[in-house]
Amino acid sequence: MDDIERTIHDFVADVLLEGEDISFDERTPLLKHRLIDSLNVEELIAFVESEYSITLSDWLHSKWETIESMAGLIRAHSPRSPEAAVSKTDVTPDAIATDYEKSVARYWNEKLNDPINLLLGAEDGLVHHHYGLGEYDPAVLSGSGADREAAIIRELHRLECAQTDVVLDAFGGMEPDGRLLDAGSGRGGGSFSAHRRFGCWVDGITLSQYQVDFATKQAARHGCTDKVAFHLQNMTRTLFPDGHFDRVLTNETTMYVDLAAAFGEFARLLRPGGRYVCVTYCVNDTIAPTSADCEAVDAHYGTRMHLRSEYLAALSAAGFSPSQVTVLNAQTIPYWELRSHSEHRTGVERAFLDGYRSNVLQYVLIAADRLPS
Ligand SMILES: C[S@@+](CC[C@H](N)C(=O)[O-])C[C@H]1O[C@@H](n2cnc3c(N)ncnc32)[C@H](O)[C@@H]1O
Repeated sequence: MDDIERTIHDFVADVLLEGEDISFDERTPLLKHRLIDSLNVEELIAFVESEYSITLSDWLHSKWETIESMAGLIRAHSPRSPEAAVSKTDVTPDAIATDYEKSVARYWNEKLNDPINLLLGAEDGLVHHHYGLGEYDPAVLSGSGADREAAIIRELHRLECAQTDVVLDAFGGMEPDGRLLDAGSGRGGGSFSAHRRFGCWVDGITLSQYQVDFATKQAARHGCTDKVAFHLQNMTRTLFPDGHFDRVLTNETTMYVDLAAAFGEFARLLRPGGRYVCVTYCVNDTIAPTSADCEAVDAHYGTRMHLRSEYLAALSAAGFSPSQVTVLNAQTIPYWELRSHSEHRTGVERAFLDGYRSNVLQYVLIAADRLPS
């Protein structure tokens, strides 16, 4: 337990249980377990609010059902939490300005107990928030119970790592002294993979302080804090100087931003000849400008996916010349089929499968080079 978890644990144990002999730890579900019967939730909320100078009123109960998840939210929100202070120095003052940006930041700050992502990265410390590519081994479906689920999880992770490999291949190499921006870095899985592959410097940026803190801890675990760092910054208006990067990556993040603003910023950040690689799901507008499947995916994640045609138009307008455009529907469909078998499926699988199979939704990789200005 860290300091925050210990503080909440002690409060629950000493004050609220009033001597009852109930065994619990930071993962015990406070709101589902019988603890809730004896636990004065109002008192606990008041304690946390005053101890950490935060307001809990707009937080979903489901997000603080355990001591662990409460502690995660506190870390992400509290100005007095030591972890929240890790990257205070390079927070862009207006990184999270619009109502939409606030909703995106809140979504990722509150995504704390997501087994479909955390379990997959538990073994090797590479936690991804993107999907997978390639055929799965059907043998993983032949077992039963916990063994079967563990095999599915391992296989999903293998496919997500294979996706990262395809994305990194599109950079066509990089020098160890090169600099890569991972724009929308999530929990850092892609940043660590890029550093492992190229030995390069990596800056990961995200709108979520929780993710900055999580990935910063993972960097220590991977022993690469000297070259890989995470920051709370907005990819449409970063703090980095002109021409600072040799490569920019967006792996399933551009559905959250205005393309002209993001690509304009990437053109500023990349040295001439530098390469930008983007993977995204998008609307195949040669078939229809939207569809029920695309809308279901957007509704599930709070994204605003763009039309495929908008990508190439916005890249050209920002001074990029595409060198690769690949539609990856066939390669990602097996991942979604396998994920549909997992106990940890989230309900969005059907929309992705139907969308990709009917081609109204496309999973696209684009590599583009920054033209000399
Ligand atoms: C689906 S996750 C992808 C994470 C990561 N690229 C991966 O492959 O695992 C989307 C990420 O984009 C980030 N994001 C969304 N809008 C952003 C913005 N305007 N600036 C920086 N990051 C943003 C979110 O905070 C989140 O980390």
